[in-house]
Amino acid sequence: MSAEPGVNVELYSRAGFGGPFTTIIRAQYLPDFIRAEGTYLPRRFQTWELGDDTFVGTRALPVPILTGEGLAIEVNRLSAPPAHALKNAESDELHFVVDGGGELDTMVGVLQVRAGDFVRIPRGIAYRWNSLTGPLHEVIITTESEITLDPENAPGSFNPDLHLDVAKPHGRPGGPVDGEYEVIYRHHDGLTSYFFDHDPLPCLDVKGAPPVIRLNIEDVHGLSVDRGGLQPARLFGSVGDRDLVFGINSRRSDRPPVHHNVDYDEVICYAAGPTPWGAIDTPGTVTWVPKGVFHQGPEEDVQPGYKAWLLETRVNLTSTPVGRKISQIMETNQFGVHPSDERAPVSV
Ligand SMILES: [Fe+2]
Repeated sequence: MSAEPGVNVELYSRAGFGGPFTTIIRAQYLPDFIRAEGTYLPRRFQTWELGDDTFVGTRALPVPILTGEGLAIEVNRLSAPPAHALKNAESDELHFVVDGGGELDTMVGVLQVRAGDFVRIPRGIAYRWNSLTGPLHEVIITTESEITLDPENAPGSFNPDLHLDVAKPHGRPGGPVDGEYEVIYRHHDGLTSYFFDHDPLPCLDVKGAPPVIRLNIEDVHGLSVDRGGLQPARLFGSVGDRDLVFGINSRRSDRPPVHHNVDYDEVICYAAGPTPWGAIDTPGTVTWVPKGVFHQGPEEDVQPGYKAWLLETRVNLTSTPVGRKISQIMETNQFGVHPSDERAPVSV
């Protein structure tokens, strides 16, 4: 359905929000495509459809739903803290807590984590959940490109001095454990476990740049404008702007035009209501628009609001077999299920 039949403004952009930009006026409304064949398709993922039994077992590792060269989107669900620690040897991890929380222990200290939190855990930092306040549901970005806190366009709202939390050193030695303590390294060709007869995580003190940081999406408020559109609040970046993470919580701004974002795949996670964002109303819904696929996307200016974030990545993503099972083809107007996809997502 066209916003204004006969006059559709399209934006062709290079470098995402960076430009240069080309505006195209076209009579047709491209997001109303009737069907598509092949694998290069926008999709919406119901991440809660990954059954609890997917994550049961001694390893309980996160499950990738989208992957590319050096980047993955993973889903993690835990009902109890695993006994082991994980260490990603080659990728930085940016965790987003959709639901639940608890005490996250790391080799540089401890953090209290709750729903709506982003937690950056760089490569080479072992971590584990000491305790959970309830069932944990996370969407995790793993990327070989170093993730840095890089806020822009959020002045007066997200303030690193006020809203950033860092892991607090334990201030004690690690004691002996019953049996062995396992730290699982995740690396490009598998898993390798190191075993200890003591708890390897506690540290006496930490100085210098904090590796593990936390901020909450509630504290992210992008600039609003009465007329026109404006870039959302940028939160994180990676080397060479390969990967960018923005807060796209509801705000006053014109609805985006139909756009062709030809250099970045767009992955959005709807984090919290109460208001639907277009056709999306369930926290943990993840949308994916591969680079160059024309799309408009829902109105952002809705009250009383919602919370969401956007990952832009230059990596060429592909949905995994598990990802395809819990997703459907997406129309690119309101991001609903495309009418050509009559298949219900399957719990796995
Ligand atoms: Fe977009």
